Amino acid sequence: MKALVLAGGSGTRLRPITHTSAKQLVPVANKPVLFYGLEAIAAAGIKDVGIVVGDTSREISDAVGDGSEFGLDVTYIPQSAPLGLAHAVLVSRDYLGDDDFAMYLGDNFVVGGIDRPIREFRAHRPDAHLLLTHVSDPRAFGVAELDASGRVRGLEEKPAHPKSDLALVGVYLFSSAIHEAVRAVKPSWRGELEITHAVQWLIDEGRDVRSSQITGYWKDTGNVTDMLEVNRLVLETIEPHCDGLVENSEIIGRVRIEEGAVVRNSRVVGPVVIGAGTVVADSYVGPFTSIAEECLVEDSELEFSIVLRGASITGVRRIEASLIGRHVQVTPAPPVPHAHRLVLGDHSRAQISS
Ligand code: TTP
Repeated sequence: MKALVLAGGSGTRLRPITHTSAKQLVPVANKPVLFYGLEAIAAAGIKDVGIVVGDTSREISDAVGDGSEFGLDVTYIPQSAPLGLAHAVLVSRDYLGDDDFAMYLGDNFVVGGIDRPIREFRAHRPDAHLLLTHVSDPRAFGVAELDASGRVRGLEEKPAHPKSDLALVGVYLFSSAIHEAVRAVKPSWRGELEITHAVQWLIDEGRDVRSSQITGYWKDTGNVTDMLEVNRLVLETIEPHCDGLVENSEIIGRVRIEEGAVVRNSRVVGPVVIGAGTVVADSYVGPFTSIAEECLVEDSELEFSIVLRGASITGVRRIEASLIGRHVQVTPAPPVPHAHRLVLGDHSRAQISS
């Protein structure tokens, strides 16, 4: 069995972060979301992985390399434009051959790995096996309708009147039958070759399409709240560890301080990760915060937030429930006049208390 990881796409919903960075590399607890997927694939015993890449191919291949760090053998498959998930399968035909494969959306996060569904797939060898999860608002997802025996009867993409609350998770298990299906479907109204249409085509042809349900799942929705939530979930699992320098500070609970980081005259209440080379001085860092590499947090208070590489936060209290992009600078405004001074990139969102 191979894996096909989709790491192309345009990432419009996570702007402005994706203006400058591949959305699959957005960090969760200081690790790119894509890496969790690659680790889950390796843990499921799969070695051969094709990664579909688009405009951000350079950034993805710089981060993942040949895959050996994950115990994987990675091949990059260029996709000329993000023409849909089924199109990504189409362009991967030569790489996949007639092997079974797990298709994994590189920006999705599945808590608990994919071993169990893969075992189920291997036991029954259906033409497709879908992972599903209960969601509160199915209208934002691909939704599956099951028959009494649990086989998939039909799929709908973002339905106005969903027939169930079972959403498709971004991992699909396929036999080579999917290649005929992706050749058979036509582009949707949004101009993409949809994988849901290809799976529906298999169902209509009377092929065996099964499913299993999982509990922990996150898909980017452009919604910072969801990102903070998945970051919180992962931080819940970290072990305390210190490779940096702690001076005159109080470190409480599970705090991971990476190499070369310095925490001085500060109070850090875990779970928190502080990235390599970052300096935290005269500050409070509260629970569920990830600070990436080479950041500066000085004379500030920060809690329940994600700070990306190279950002600096000085003299500010208090930042909460925030996503701070790479190399962003947050500083206090002069006390007089009482005004906010902002330089925000395209598609930024700011909430100001005044
Ligand atoms: P999506 O989130 O469905 O699409 P997108 O990346 O275009 O995002 P947005 O809607 O915010 O603009 O993609 C899911 C994953 O699949 C993601 O990792 C990108 C990848 N992908 C491809 O590799 N090729 C494609 O043609 C598409 C549509 C997505």
